[in-house]
Formats: sequence, C-alpha cells, structure tokens
Amino acid sequence: MKENALEVYRCPITGERLHLDAAEKHGDEVVRGVLLARDQRYVVEGDMPVFLRTEQLTGTAHFARNYYASIAETYDDYVHVTFDLYNESEREVRLGLIELLNLNRRSKVLEISAGTGKDSELILDNLDADGELWLLDLSSDMLAHAKEKIARYPARTEAAVGDACHLPYADNYFDALYCFAGIGHFTDQRMALKEMARVVHPGGKVVFAEKNVPPWLRDTEYGKILINNNPMFADENPLALLPVEARNAGIRWILGNVHYVVDYTVGEGEPTGNFDLVLPGHRGGSFNTRYFGKLEGVSAEAKALYEKAARKREMSLYQWLDSTVREKALKDLSED
Ligand SMILES: C[S@@+](CC[C@H](N)C(=O)[O-])C[C@H]1O[C@@H](n2cnc3c(N)ncnc32)[C@H](O)[C@@H]1O
Repeated sequence: MKENALEVYRCPITGERLHLDAAEKHGDEVVRGVLLARDQRYVVEGDMPVFLRTEQLTGTAHFARNYYASIAETYDDYVHVTFDLYNESEREVRLGLIELLNLNRRSKVLEISAGTGKDSELILDNLDADGELWLLDLSSDMLAHAKEKIARYPARTEAAVGDACHLPYADNYFDALYCFAGIGHFTDQRMALKEMARVVHPGGKVVFAEKNVPPWLRDTEYGKILINNNPMFADENPLALLPVEARNAGIRWILGNVHYVVDYTVGEGEPTGNFDLVLPGHRGGSFNTRYFGKLEGVSAEAKALYEKAARKREMSLYQWLDSTVREKALKDLSED
C-alpha cells in the first residue's frame, strides 16, 4: 500500500479518514502498520490493508473467505471450466463485460471480488500511467495472486482485503466499478449495491455479473441440471435491490444464458420529472396535484355532481375542483 492511498481509503464502518501508525516501509510502499480512525483499527499486512473485523465474518462471508483461501492456489487452473461448460471463450466473455465500463486511459476503476486478478489484467490493458485500478477481495490468498499479475502494468494499483458490504473508499472517487462472480457470496446484497453507487461519482459506470438461471429456464432440464450442481444458480437476480441512483440500468443474460449482467450509470439521488406539467384532457391537473393534492373522499352523489358541473363549465375535473375548493375555503376563512 502506498501512503498516499490514505487520501482514498476510509474507515468502512464510520467513513472517517484513517491515520497510519507504526509503519514499516520499503521505499514508498507501506508493508506493515496500523490504520486508525477514532474508534476503529485495521492492520496493514503483506503490504495490503485489511479492512475486516472478525464480527463481519459471519455466515456466508466466513464460508467464502475460508473456501477461497483453500482454492486460491489452484483457482486459475480450473476457472476455465466455467466458460468451457457453455463452449464460450473466457477472454471474450470477460472483455465483453469490461467494455461496458466505458473506460478511458486515465479511468479510476474499482474491482470488487477481484479474486486472482483474471479481469484485473484485462482492465489494466485499457489504462496508462494516469489510470488507477483498486482491487478489493475478502480473501488475501486470492489477492496475493492478483498482485503478482498486476505488478507489470504502468497504471497505479492498490489492493485491499475487505467486505463488499462496507467499502473502505471515499464517496464519489471512482469513474467505474466492476464485479464479476462475487455478488452471490455477499451477506447483504442491497447494502453492497448501495455502497457501489456511493463510491462511483455521478456519470460513472457500475457493471456486475453473477450466475443465475433466469425465470424462463427454471423449469427446463438445462436449468435444473445447473441448479442441481450449484443452488446459487437459483438465487434471485438483484434488480429489485438496485439503488435509486441507477440510471439507464440494463440487465441481460450471457454465458450460457445463465449469468446476468447488470450495468448502469450512476445518477444523483432519485430521478426527477417535470411533474408540474399541466395535463390535457378531462381529468386535468398535473402528476404533482394528483399525488400531493389528495382530498378526503366525497359521496358518490357529490362526485357525480361535480363531474357534471365541470363538464357544463367546460373545465377539467382538476380545474373545477381546485377553484371550487379554493373559493369556498377562502370565503369560510374570511368569515372568521
Ligand atoms: C468466483 S470468485 C471470482 C473472482 C474473479 N472476479 C474472477 O472472475 O475470477 C469470487 C470472489 O469473491 C470474493 N468474495 C466473496 N465474498 C466477498 C465479499 N463479501 N466481499 C469481497 N469479496 C468477496 C471471494 O474471495 C472470491 O475471490
């Protein structure tokens, strides 16, 4: 870890800036030390900050960390099977996903669940010395392999151990975020998706993909065989969990038609609309008057009468009702 990475790293629990203590350095590389926020403490080990605390490592996260630690050594020898199963090229599939990031040579990219860095290399092919790639993974054993792969590239690289549900980065820092085959392991996918939108600035891109048999293939033999082999194929896709900042969001299924890809552009807060636009037609008013101007219900007889009266006066329902209520209310108020 470079010391100036502290301009970007934040306490994943409180969002506070971190201070380096007891640092052992090799050149400008911090190989050992302690990162401190007010009430939190994280170690730097093997030149990587470890933003994990034991209480975070429950359930799925605990399993994932141990599982990937046990297969880190052989992961690269076997990952091709995931692509061979569907007669697809690993390189082509990965490149197709990375293309969705809309990178330029100076992009600042965060890769979550980077594993042994198979996509990291392909992302780095797009960046020059002004570009940045930051890696995060729950498993330091997986990341150790990624670090070997990324060392030869000119772009700035940083790797950290941490949990996707509590990202250790400042708000709005990244231009693009990428996560392939990690989400299925996250303990709180909604929180992780919210965190992704937090660390990418408005206008930046988020791309993530995971195994998933889509609804129309659930009852096929093809779908059943996959779900039988790995129940994660039956997990729901995460569309309902996307954050409100997601704009132009798209989902499609690739890689044997059993891996979803979601990509979207980050926006600011909720989208806005021109909801004061006066609507033509009998009902009239605007989306805002219809939403914010709801009155207590009236009797069916009163409703039929006001509809008749509005028609007679050639007013929209909104115009008649708004002017009549306003007139009567102002009159009653002036009599007080
Ligand atoms: C199937 S591997 C994918 C690795 C890599 N993206 C690739 O395509 O080869 C899943 C990775 O997700 C990581 N992971 C699992 N849960 C995580 C979490 N909560 N936060 C960050 N990484 C996680 C694992 O340690 C593992 O390296």
